[in-house]
Amino acid sequence: MTSGSSSRLRLGVNIDHVATIRNARRAPYPDPLRAALLAAKAGADGVTAHLREDRRHIGDADMEGLIRELPVPLNFEMAATDEMIEIALRIKPHAVCLVPEKREEVTTEGGIDAAGLHNRLAPKVRALADAGIRVSLFIDPDARQIEAAKSLAAPVVELCTGAYCEAVLAEDLGAVAAHLDAAQTSAAAAGRLGLEVHAGHGLTYDNVSAIAAIPEVKELNIGHFLIGEAIFIGLEAAIGRMRALMDAARAGAGA
Ligand code: PXP
Repeated sequence: MTSGSSSRLRLGVNIDHVATIRNARRAPYPDPLRAALLAAKAGADGVTAHLREDRRHIGDADMEGLIRELPVPLNFEMAATDEMIEIALRIKPHAVCLVPEKREEVTTEGGIDAAGLHNRLAPKVRALADAGIRVSLFIDPDARQIEAAKSLAAPVVELCTGAYCEAVLAEDLGAVAAHLDAAQTSAAAAGRLGLEVHAGHGLTYDNVSAIAAIPEVKELNIGHFLIGEAIFIGLEAAIGRMRALMDAARAGAGA
């Protein structure tokens, strides 16, 4: 999950929901680290884990294990709280993705308000960057948020594809077109500002192609669908199929 000249779209696999299943029984299995190692073997370019304030899935020991044993870069997804910044500065992952977090939400509900929270985020982004951690801001595909990310000197933005994916599920063609246009326009604007563009949230085999075809997008982060699909065909096969769809979309887009 480093910047590079290759136009191959990278795949980051989010293993949070392996921990969700484990924690449902307060058992020591299934082990998210084992899933992360398997994901790397299956071709994931990186692994994402979200240490939530309430530790509902990934726990502190999981993060320590990932940092120790992962052969690919770890993307530490977290809220911009003092507690999480302190953990990130201690374990020093390759990357941190800052997300908004509400205790009552089922999943991250949209991007962080980088514009509105600019002054609160600035010292946090700086502290992470000073420690050599690549900072990504998970934002909605919106010009104001992209400009705020740039002014915060975050090198990466991850565009939230959640609304696009929901529109695809609802078969609302007008909304699909509007959300896709926002993703394309935002990716182009971020690219012009020199930001590296990632995307993710809600991606599945059925909706990944249009997002993968956006030329400025360098990395997709996908979790829930892949872990669910692994129940039926195994994690390696699920990652392989997603990888093939991403590569085909990219080839079709002439990248
Ligand atoms: N990127 C970010 C910032 C996220 O919060 C999530 C969800 O944890 C994802 C990507 C992956 O989303 P999903 O699990 O729906 O594939």
